[in-house]
Amino acid sequence: MSRSDKHILVVSAIRPRHMEELAAKYELHRWDQASDKDAFLSEVADRITALVSTAGVGVPTELIGKLPNLKVITSFGVGYDAIDIAACTARGIRVSNTPDVLNDDVADTAIMLLLATLRRLVVGDHWARSGQWSEKGAMPLTTTARGKKLGIVGLGRIGQAIAARAEPIGMKIGYFGRSKKPVDYHYEADLIGLANWADVLMISCPGGAATQGIINADVLKALGPRGFVINIARGSVIDEPALIAALRDGVIAGAGLDVFHNEPHMDRAFAEFENVVLYPHNASGTVETRDAMAQMVVDNLAQWFADGTLVSPVN
Ligand code: 8YV
Repeated sequence: MSRSDKHILVVSAIRPRHMEELAAKYELHRWDQASDKDAFLSEVADRITALVSTAGVGVPTELIGKLPNLKVITSFGVGYDAIDIAACTARGIRVSNTPDVLNDDVADTAIMLLLATLRRLVVGDHWARSGQWSEKGAMPLTTTARGKKLGIVGLGRIGQAIAARAEPIGMKIGYFGRSKKPVDYHYEADLIGLANWADVLMISCPGGAATQGIINADVLKALGPRGFVINIARGSVIDEPALIAALRDGVIAGAGLDVFHNEPHMDRAFAEFENVVLYPHNASGTVETRDAMAQMVVDNLAQWFADGTLVSPVN
């Protein structure tokens, strides 16, 4: 296959250096940059065999329907809840993601948010910057992570990396998931049970229909007024209005959030809470990890065009 036979639709771009590498090897069609997307598509649709996107943007299902010769989607990110995998599989379209290379940075962020929330880092930062320290003295005392119970919702690769970091901090680990795993951690087959047990609920499961809104008002009530929620998974996993009400009414003690409904247009109500630490969906957002993720997209495409297989297939 020559370069002119390898037509890739770019729905969302990866790192600049990796985009240059792709542009040197393939015919790139920048749907992401087209102002009239339908007109653009009518010119190129038949030639497209591969598509590049990112986890945050995903791939609109109606776009897949307009690409009759699409064979492969290479997505930047581990989560693929914004791609209709069943529709792809039904059409024989293969999908790849970028697992594992982001585990460490995402798990580090989970612990960063946990400690920042319990120890009120943002309040303390403001206390020092604003001069309250010199005017009023020490900031109010916070609460320790040591000895607390960490209930992990979804003990996958990232959940296990979080547990491995929380143990040496002195936390007890429990988890909820579809099945019990060969680990020594406390297992709860029921989410309310885990919320009752835990002091800190850590959300690290995939997004999508199966987990939509599973952290609801009942779960938050079970977590209780001394409990915290940390979410590095997807905003969709939490019933967000219920979380906002729980924070407002003191149903839970606080939250550390990297992900939201309707990103990047986060509900501004979160900005009002002193007991919340916010991060703008940036858990994998280091130069090193984003480069490694982009390299996996490049590698998946290279392998696909070489022998029709993928380095990290989803379906
Ligand atoms: C992505 C993510 O980097 O990997 C995922 O699933 O959510 C992030 O790491 C981000 O969404 C880029 O699109």
